[in-house]
Amino acid sequence: MRKITVAIDGPAGAGKSSAAKMAAARLRYLYIDTGAMYRAVTWAVLTERIDIDDAAAVKRLTDALQIRLEPGPHLCRVYVGETEVTETIRTPYVSSHVSSVAALAVVREKLVQLQREMAASGGVILDGRDIGTVVLPQADLKIYLTASVASRARRRFLEMHASGSTETLEAVQRSIAARDDMDSHRELSPLRRAEDAILIDNSELNLDETADVITDLIRARER
Ligand code: CDP
Ligand code: CDP
Ligand code: CDP
Repeated sequence: MRKITVAIDGPAGAGKSSAAKMAAARLRYLYIDTGAMYRAVTWAVLTERIDIDDAAAVKRLTDALQIRLEPGPHLCRVYVGETEVTETIRTPYVSSHVSSVAALAVVREKLVQLQREMAASGGVILDGRDIGTVVLPQADLKIYLTASVASRARRRFLEMHASGSTETLEAVQRSIAARDDMDSHRELSPLRRAEDAILIDNSELNLDETADVITDLIRARER
C-alpha cells in the first residue's frame, strides 16, 4: 500500500483540522496544520510590533523565524524558536490579524516553501486554504471541505465556550465571515476549490462521519 499526499482546503470552522487529525491517526499519516504556521508568523509580528506595511521588516522577521510543528498522532504542538505558542495562536487577537498577515507575499513565499519540504516524504495530510491550488497542485487527493456559515459558527462558538470564552454566537459568526471574505478575495492564493478537488459539505455530518468520509477517500486512492 502506497501512502499518498492529501490536500484539504476550505473555510474556517469546516472541521478540516479535527477531521484531518483523526484520519491521519487512523491511517498513520503525518498531519500538517498550515493555518498554525500563518498564526505563528502573525503571533511573532504582533509580539515584535512589526508594521505589516513594512515588507522588508516582515521579510526579515519571517526569514529569521524558526517555526516547528511537533506532530504527534493527534496533537500538533507549535513552537516559535523555544517558545510554545500552541494556545496563544488560537486567541481572538491573533485570529483577527491572521488574514492580513497571510495576504503578504513575503510570508506566503516562505511558508509555502516550508510546507512543500514537509510534504516531500509523502504519507501526509496538509490542511489550509491554498494546498490543492498552490502548495501541492499535484496532490494525489484533494478535498474541499465546507459547511454553512451558521454551522461553522455554531461549532466554533461551542468550542470556544468549552474553553471559557464569553464571546457571543453573533460575534463568532461575524469574525468567521470576515476572515472567509478576506481569505477568498485576496490577490495571492485566495481560498478556492481546485477544479479536481472533491467537494464535501458537512453541514449535516458530525466530526466522526466527516473523518470517515475522508479516511475512505484516502484508502481508495492508496494502492
Ligand atoms: O482553523 P481556522 O479555520 O480558524 O484557521 P486556520 O486554518 O488556523 O488558518 C488561519 C488563517 O491562516 C486563515 O484564515 C488564512 O488567512 C490563513 N491561511 C492561509 O492563508 N493559507 C493556508 N494554507 C492556511 C491558512
Ligand atoms: O480546521 P477548521 O477551521 O476547518 O475546523 P476545526 O477547527 O477542525 O473544527 C471546528 C470545530 O467544529 C471543532 O470543535 C470540531 O470538533 C467541530 N466540528 C463539528 O462539530 N462537526 C464537524 N462535522 C466538524 C467539526
Ligand atoms: O472567530 P474566529 O473564527 O475568527 O476565530 P477562531 O480562529 O475561531 O478563534 C477564536 C477562538 O476559538 C479562540 O480564542 C480559541 O479559544 C478557539 N479556538 C480553539 O479553541 N481551537 C481552534 N482550533 C481554533 C479556535
